[in-house]
Amino acid sequence: MITKKILIFGASGQVGRYCIRRFVKNNYKVFAVTRNVHKKGYILKTQAPIGYLDIIEANIFDENKLTELISKVDVCVNLVGILYEKGNVNTFNNIHTIFPKKLAQICYSKKVKLVHISALGLDKVKDSKYASSKINGEKFVREILPSTTIIKPSLVYSVDDNLTTKFMGLLSVLPFFPLYYGGKTKFTPIHVSELAELIFYVISKDLYSKTIEAIGPEVLTFKEILQTLMKCIKKNRILFPMPLILARLSAFFMQVMPQPLITQDQINLLKYDNIKTKSGVTNFDIGCPSSLKFEDTVKDYAFNWTEGGQFSSS
Ligand SMILES: NC(=O)c1ccc[n+]([C@@H]2O[C@H](COP(=O)([O-])OP(=O)(O)OC[C@H]3O[C@@H](n4cnc5c(N)ncnc54)[C@H](OP(=O)(O)O)[C@@H]3O)[C@@H](O)[C@H]2O)c1
Repeated sequence: MITKKILIFGASGQVGRYCIRRFVKNNYKVFAVTRNVHKKGYILKTQAPIGYLDIIEANIFDENKLTELISKVDVCVNLVGILYEKGNVNTFNNIHTIFPKKLAQICYSKKVKLVHISALGLDKVKDSKYASSKINGEKFVREILPSTTIIKPSLVYSVDDNLTTKFMGLLSVLPFFPLYYGGKTKFTPIHVSELAELIFYVISKDLYSKTIEAIGPEVLTFKEILQTLMKCIKKNRILFPMPLILARLSAFFMQVMPQPLITQDQINLLKYDNIKTKSGVTNFDIGCPSSLKFEDTVKDYAFNWTEGGQFSSS
Protein backbone atom coordinates (compact mmCIF):
# COMPACT_ATOMS: atom_id res chain seq x y z
CA MET A 1 0.00 0.00 0.00
CA ILE A 2 1.35 3.43 -0.94
CA THR A 3 2.04 5.47 2.21
CA LYS A 4 3.54 8.70 0.79
CA LYS A 5 3.90 10.37 -2.58
CA ILE A 6 7.34 11.84 -3.27
CA LEU A 7 8.27 14.07 -6.18
CA ILE A 8 11.98 14.00 -7.04
CA PHE A 9 13.71 16.58 -9.23
CA GLY A 10 17.07 15.32 -10.48
CA ALA A 11 15.88 11.74 -10.00
CA SER A 12 18.06 10.24 -12.71
CA GLY A 13 21.31 11.29 -11.02
CA GLN A 14 23.49 9.32 -8.65
CA VAL A 15 21.62 10.31 -5.49
CA GLY A 16 18.21 10.20 -7.19
CA ARG A 17 18.46 6.59 -8.26
CA TYR A 18 19.44 5.43 -4.77
CA CYS A 19 16.62 7.52 -3.28
CA ILE A 20 14.04 5.95 -5.59
CA ARG A 21 15.13 2.46 -4.57
CA ARG A 22 15.15 3.37 -0.86
CA PHE A 23 11.76 5.11 -0.99
CA VAL A 24 9.84 2.44 -2.89
CA LYS A 25 11.20 -0.22 -0.53
CA ASN A 26 9.13 1.56 2.09
CA ASN A 27 6.01 1.78 -0.07
CA TYR A 28 6.46 5.42 -1.06
CA LYS A 29 5.35 6.21 -4.58
CA VAL A 30 7.93 8.21 -6.52
CA PHE A 31 7.29 10.76 -9.25
CA ALA A 32 10.65 11.09 -10.96
CA VAL A 33 11.27 14.20 -13.03
CA THR A 34 13.78 14.24 -15.88
CA ARG A 35 14.45 16.62 -18.73
CA ASN A 36 14.68 13.84 -21.25
CA VAL A 37 12.68 10.68 -20.84
CA HIS A 38 14.21 9.11 -23.95
CA LYS A 39 17.72 9.42 -22.55
CA LYS A 40 17.05 8.80 -18.87
CA GLY A 41 13.87 6.67 -18.94
CA TYR A 42 15.79 3.43 -19.41
CA ILE A 43 17.78 3.96 -16.23
CA LEU A 44 14.85 5.30 -14.21
CA LYS A 45 12.31 2.63 -15.06
CA THR A 46 14.41 -0.18 -13.59
CA GLN A 47 14.62 1.47 -10.16
CA ALA A 48 11.16 0.52 -8.86
CA PRO A 49 8.43 -2.09 -9.16
CA ILE A 50 5.38 -1.45 -11.33
CA GLY A 51 2.96 0.99 -9.74
CA TYR A 52 5.54 2.67 -7.54
CA LEU A 53 7.21 4.96 -10.08
CA ASP A 54 5.92 7.54 -12.54
CA ILE A 55 8.54 9.05 -14.84
CA ILE A 56 7.76 12.60 -15.89
CA GLU A 57 9.46 14.63 -18.57
CA ALA A 58 9.47 18.31 -17.66
CA ASN A 59 11.32 21.56 -17.97
CA ILE A 60 12.18 22.66 -14.43
CA PHE A 61 11.64 26.31 -15.40
CA ASP A 62 8.03 25.70 -16.45
CA GLU A 63 6.19 27.11 -13.43
CA ASN A 64 2.76 25.76 -14.40
CA LYS A 65 4.17 22.27 -14.74
CA LEU A 66 5.96 22.56 -11.38
CA THR A 67 2.72 23.62 -9.71
CA GLU A 68 0.78 20.79 -11.33
CA LEU A 69 3.37 18.21 -10.18
CA ILE A 70 3.84 19.57 -6.67
CA SER A 71 0.05 19.70 -6.06
CA LYS A 72 -0.14 15.90 -6.32
CA VAL A 73 2.44 14.90 -3.70
CA ASP A 74 3.27 14.96 0.02
CA VAL A 75 6.98 15.70 -0.24
CA CYS A 76 9.22 17.25 -2.86
CA VAL A 77 12.94 16.38 -2.97
CA ASN A 78 15.28 18.64 -4.92
CA LEU A 79 18.42 16.92 -6.19
CA VAL A 80 19.05 19.10 -9.22
CA GLY A 81 22.63 20.30 -9.33
CA ILE A 82 25.39 21.09 -11.80
CA LEU A 83 29.18 21.31 -11.54
CA TYR A 84 29.73 23.65 -14.46
CA GLU A 85 27.61 26.14 -16.37
CA LYS A 86 26.35 25.66 -19.92
CA GLY A 87 24.95 28.55 -21.98
CA ASN A 88 22.73 31.25 -20.58
CA VAL A 89 20.08 29.05 -18.96
CA ASN A 90 21.96 26.25 -17.25
CA THR A 91 23.78 28.67 -15.01
CA PHE A 92 24.61 28.17 -11.33
CA ASN A 93 22.23 30.98 -10.45
CA ASN A 94 19.28 29.49 -12.36
CA ILE A 95 19.83 25.91 -11.19
CA HIS A 96 20.98 26.39 -7.58
CA THR A 97 19.22 29.63 -6.61
CA ILE A 98 16.23 30.50 -8.83
CA PHE A 99 14.91 26.95 -9.17
CA PRO A 100 14.95 26.07 -5.42
CA LYS A 101 13.42 29.48 -4.68
CA LYS A 102 10.57 28.70 -7.07
CA LEU A 103 10.15 25.22 -5.57
CA ALA A 104 9.94 26.66 -2.06
CA GLN A 105 7.30 29.19 -3.15
CA ILE A 106 5.13 26.52 -4.76
CA CYS A 107 5.62 24.04 -1.91
CA TYR A 108 4.61 26.79 0.52
CA SER A 109 1.43 27.59 -1.42
CA LYS A 110 0.51 23.92 -1.82
CA LYS A 111 1.49 22.95 1.76
CA VAL A 112 3.96 20.36 0.52
CA LYS A 113 7.10 19.44 2.49
CA LEU A 114 10.46 20.15 0.87
CA VAL A 115 13.83 18.43 1.23
CA HIS A 116 16.52 20.44 -0.51
CA ILE A 117 19.98 19.06 -1.20
CA SER A 118 22.74 21.65 -1.17
CA ALA A 119 26.43 20.99 -0.44
CA LEU A 120 28.88 21.07 2.46
CA GLY A 121 31.77 23.42 3.06
CA LEU A 122 30.52 26.42 1.14
CA ASP A 123 29.71 28.94 3.85
CA LYS A 124 33.13 30.59 3.92
CA VAL A 125 33.82 30.33 0.20
CA LYS A 126 34.08 33.73 -1.41
CA ASP A 127 35.47 33.01 -4.86
CA SER A 128 33.23 30.34 -6.36
CA LYS A 129 30.01 30.94 -8.30
CA TYR A 130 28.97 27.34 -7.55
CA ALA A 131 29.28 28.00 -3.80
CA SER A 132 27.51 31.36 -3.77
CA SER A 133 24.64 30.02 -5.90
CA LYS A 134 24.14 27.07 -3.53
CA ILE A 135 24.28 29.31 -0.43
CA ASN A 136 21.81 31.79 -1.96
CA GLY A 137 19.50 28.88 -2.81
CA GLU A 138 19.63 27.72 0.83
CA LYS A 139 18.85 31.24 2.07
CA PHE A 140 15.79 31.66 -0.17
CA VAL A 141 14.46 28.21 0.65
CA ARG A 142 14.86 28.75 4.41
CA GLU A 143 13.25 32.20 4.20
CA ILE A 144 10.27 31.21 2.05
CA LEU A 145 9.57 27.80 3.57
CA PRO A 146 11.21 27.58 7.03
CA SER A 147 10.12 23.98 7.45
CA THR A 148 12.39 22.84 4.61
CA THR A 149 15.07 20.35 5.51
CA ILE A 150 18.34 21.31 3.88
CA ILE A 151 20.89 18.52 3.54
CA LYS A 152 24.49 19.47 2.86
CA PRO A 153 26.58 16.47 1.74
CA SER A 154 30.34 16.23 1.52
CA LEU A 155 31.66 14.23 -1.46
CA VAL A 156 29.15 11.58 -2.45
CA TYR A 157 30.65 8.47 -3.99
CA SER A 158 29.61 5.12 -5.44
CA VAL A 159 30.07 2.99 -8.51
CA ASP A 160 27.59 5.40 -10.16
CA ASP A 161 29.50 8.58 -9.31
CA ASN A 162 31.43 11.12 -11.33
CA LEU A 163 34.27 11.23 -8.86
CA THR A 164 35.93 7.95 -7.92
CA THR A 165 35.07 6.40 -11.29
CA LYS A 166 36.50 9.37 -13.19
CA PHE A 167 39.64 9.51 -11.04
CA MET A 168 40.22 5.76 -11.29
CA GLY A 169 39.88 6.05 -15.08
CA LEU A 170 42.50 8.80 -15.17
CA LEU A 171 44.81 7.11 -12.67
CA SER A 172 44.73 3.91 -14.65
CA VAL A 173 46.21 5.65 -17.73
CA LEU A 174 48.14 8.72 -16.56
CA PRO A 175 51.69 8.25 -15.19
CA PHE A 176 51.20 11.24 -12.88
CA PHE A 177 48.32 13.17 -11.34
CA PRO A 178 48.14 16.78 -10.11
CA LEU A 179 47.60 17.67 -6.47
CA TYR A 180 45.84 20.99 -6.02
CA TYR A 181 46.77 22.97 -2.88
CA GLY A 182 49.30 20.25 -2.08
CA GLY A 183 46.47 17.71 -1.78
CA LYS A 184 45.78 18.96 1.76
CA THR A 185 42.09 19.84 1.39
CA LYS A 186 39.98 17.67 3.70
CA PHE A 187 36.80 15.80 2.80
CA THR A 188 34.35 13.51 4.59
CA PRO A 189 33.12 11.26 1.76
CA ILE A 190 29.73 9.69 2.25
CA HIS A 191 28.53 6.67 0.30
CA VAL A 192 25.43 7.47 -1.74
CA SER A 193 23.43 4.65 -0.10
CA GLU A 194 23.96 6.34 3.28
CA LEU A 195 22.92 9.72 1.91
CA ALA A 196 19.76 8.15 0.46
CA GLU A 197 19.17 6.53 3.86
CA LEU A 198 19.46 9.95 5.50
CA ILE A 199 16.97 11.54 3.07
CA PHE A 200 14.59 8.65 3.73
CA TYR A 201 15.16 9.02 7.50
CA VAL A 202 14.27 12.73 7.37
CA ILE A 203 11.07 12.05 5.46
CA SER A 204 9.99 9.00 7.45
CA LYS A 205 10.61 10.70 10.83
CA ASP A 206 9.08 14.01 9.73
CA LEU A 207 12.29 15.85 10.62
CA TYR A 208 11.53 19.14 8.97
CA SER A 209 13.05 22.61 9.40
CA LYS A 210 16.58 21.30 10.00
CA THR A 211 19.88 21.87 8.24
CA ILE A 212 21.87 18.65 8.28
CA GLU A 213 25.46 18.16 7.23
CA ALA A 214 25.79 14.74 5.59
CA ILE A 215 29.18 13.25 6.28
CA GLY A 216 30.91 9.90 6.12
CA PRO A 217 32.75 8.24 9.01
CA GLU A 218 36.26 9.45 8.02
CA VAL A 219 38.11 12.65 7.22
CA LEU A 220 40.42 12.19 4.22
CA THR A 221 42.63 14.66 2.39
CA PHE A 222 42.52 14.96 -1.38
CA LYS A 223 45.91 13.23 -1.47
CA GLU A 224 44.67 10.37 0.72
CA ILE A 225 41.64 9.93 -1.54
CA LEU A 226 43.92 9.61 -4.59
CA GLN A 227 46.28 7.27 -2.73
CA THR A 228 43.34 5.07 -1.73
CA LEU A 229 42.07 4.96 -5.31
CA MET A 230 45.55 4.01 -6.55
CA LYS A 231 45.71 1.26 -3.96
CA CYS A 232 42.27 0.00 -5.00
CA ILE A 233 43.24 -0.21 -8.69
CA LYS A 234 46.74 -1.49 -7.87
CA LYS A 235 48.56 1.36 -9.63
CA ASN A 236 51.36 3.54 -8.42
CA ARG A 237 51.34 7.03 -9.88
CA ILE A 238 53.35 10.16 -9.20
CA LEU A 239 51.25 12.72 -7.35
CA PHE A 240 52.80 16.11 -7.92
CA PRO A 241 51.77 19.37 -6.26
CA MET A 242 50.62 21.57 -9.13
CA PRO A 243 51.45 25.29 -8.86
CA LEU A 244 48.23 27.28 -8.64
CA ILE A 245 49.00 29.33 -11.72
CA LEU A 246 49.36 26.15 -13.79
CA ALA A 247 46.20 24.68 -12.25
CA ARG A 248 44.24 27.79 -13.22
CA LEU A 249 45.74 27.85 -16.70
CA SER A 250 44.92 24.19 -17.39
CA ALA A 251 41.40 24.68 -16.01
CA PHE A 252 40.97 27.73 -18.24
CA PHE A 253 41.50 25.54 -21.31
CA MET A 254 39.67 22.48 -19.96
CA GLN A 255 36.51 24.35 -19.04
CA VAL A 256 35.64 24.99 -22.69
CA MET A 257 35.22 21.23 -23.25
CA PRO A 258 31.63 19.89 -23.34
CA GLN A 259 32.23 17.94 -20.09
CA PRO A 260 35.22 19.62 -18.47
CA LEU A 261 37.43 17.58 -16.16
CA ILE A 262 37.96 20.63 -14.00
CA THR A 263 37.00 24.31 -14.13
CA GLN A 264 38.49 27.44 -12.60
CA ASP A 265 35.51 27.64 -10.26
CA GLN A 266 36.28 24.13 -9.00
CA ILE A 267 39.96 25.01 -8.53
CA ASN A 268 38.83 27.85 -6.25
CA LEU A 269 36.45 25.57 -4.39
CA LEU A 270 39.14 22.96 -3.79
CA LYS A 271 40.95 25.41 -1.52
CA TYR A 272 38.35 24.97 1.22
CA ASP A 273 37.93 21.98 3.51
CA ASN A 274 34.75 20.00 2.99
CA ILE A 275 34.14 18.82 6.53
CA LYS A 276 31.63 19.32 9.32
CA THR A 277 31.36 22.92 10.52
CA LYS A 278 31.89 23.75 14.21
CA SER A 279 28.25 24.29 15.07
CA GLY A 280 26.77 22.10 12.33
CA VAL A 281 24.28 19.30 13.00
CA THR A 282 25.22 16.12 11.17
CA ASN A 283 23.56 12.85 10.27
CA PHE A 284 25.37 11.37 13.30
CA ASP A 285 23.70 13.92 15.62
CA ILE A 286 20.19 13.12 14.42
CA GLY A 287 20.57 9.35 14.78
CA CYS A 288 21.39 8.39 11.21
CA PRO A 289 25.14 7.74 11.29
CA SER A 290 27.14 6.57 8.29
CA SER A 291 29.59 3.71 8.66
CA LEU A 292 30.80 2.74 5.19
CA LYS A 293 34.54 3.36 4.95
CA PHE A 294 35.88 4.82 1.72
CA GLU A 295 38.53 2.20 0.95
CA ASP A 296 36.39 -0.82 1.89
CA THR A 297 33.54 0.40 -0.29
CA VAL A 298 35.54 1.54 -3.33
CA LYS A 299 37.40 -1.80 -3.29
CA ASP A 300 34.09 -3.50 -4.12
CA TYR A 301 33.89 -1.85 -7.55
CA ALA A 302 37.50 -0.84 -8.27
CA PHE A 303 38.23 -4.17 -9.98
CA ASN A 304 36.72 -2.64 -13.12
CA TRP A 305 39.77 -0.37 -13.35
CA THR A 306 42.36 -3.03 -12.52
CA GLU A 307 44.18 -5.03 -15.19
CA GLY A 308 41.70 -6.92 -17.36
CA GLY A 309 38.77 -4.97 -15.91
CA GLN A 310 36.02 -3.37 -17.98
CA PHE A 311 37.54 0.13 -17.83
CA SER A 312 41.18 -0.83 -17.57
CA SER A 313 43.75 0.42 -20.02
CA SER A 314 45.40 -3.02 -20.15
N1 LIG B 1 27.80 14.08 -5.96
C1 LIG B 1 28.41 14.77 -5.01
O1 LIG B 1 29.57 14.52 -4.64
C2 LIG B 1 27.65 15.89 -4.32
C3 LIG B 1 28.27 16.55 -3.24
C4 LIG B 1 27.58 17.58 -2.60
C5 LIG B 1 26.33 17.94 -3.03
N2 LIG B 1 25.75 17.28 -4.09
C6 LIG B 1 24.42 17.71 -4.53
O2 LIG B 1 23.51 16.63 -4.45
C7 LIG B 1 22.53 16.74 -5.49
C8 LIG B 1 22.47 15.44 -6.28
O3 LIG B 1 23.76 15.12 -6.75
P1 LIG B 1 24.04 13.94 -7.78
O4 LIG B 1 25.42 13.46 -7.53
O5 LIG B 1 22.94 12.96 -7.77
O6 LIG B 1 24.05 14.74 -9.16
P2 LIG B 1 23.98 14.16 -10.64
O7 LIG B 1 24.24 12.71 -10.67
O8 LIG B 1 24.81 15.05 -11.49
O9 LIG B 1 22.45 14.40 -11.04
C9 LIG B 1 21.95 15.68 -11.12
C10 LIG B 1 20.55 15.66 -11.68
O10 LIG B 1 20.20 17.00 -11.95
C11 LIG B 1 19.41 17.05 -13.11
N3 LIG B 1 19.77 18.25 -13.85
C12 LIG B 1 20.99 18.75 -14.14
N4 LIG B 1 20.87 19.89 -14.84
C13 LIG B 1 19.54 20.10 -14.98
C14 LIG B 1 18.78 21.10 -15.62
N5 LIG B 1 19.35 22.09 -16.28
N6 LIG B 1 17.44 21.01 -15.58
C15 LIG B 1 16.86 19.98 -14.93
N7 LIG B 1 17.51 19.00 -14.32
C16 LIG B 1 18.84 19.07 -14.35
C17 LIG B 1 19.72 15.83 -13.95
O11 LIG B 1 18.47 15.28 -14.35
P3 LIG B 1 18.08 14.93 -15.86
O12 LIG B 1 19.31 14.87 -16.69
O13 LIG B 1 17.39 13.59 -15.78
O14 LIG B 1 17.14 15.99 -16.26
C18 LIG B 1 20.42 14.88 -12.96
O15 LIG B 1 19.60 13.78 -12.70
C19 LIG B 1 22.95 17.95 -6.33
O16 LIG B 1 22.26 19.08 -5.90
C20 LIG B 1 24.42 18.11 -6.00
O17 LIG B 1 24.87 19.45 -6.16
C21 LIG B 1 26.39 16.26 -4.74
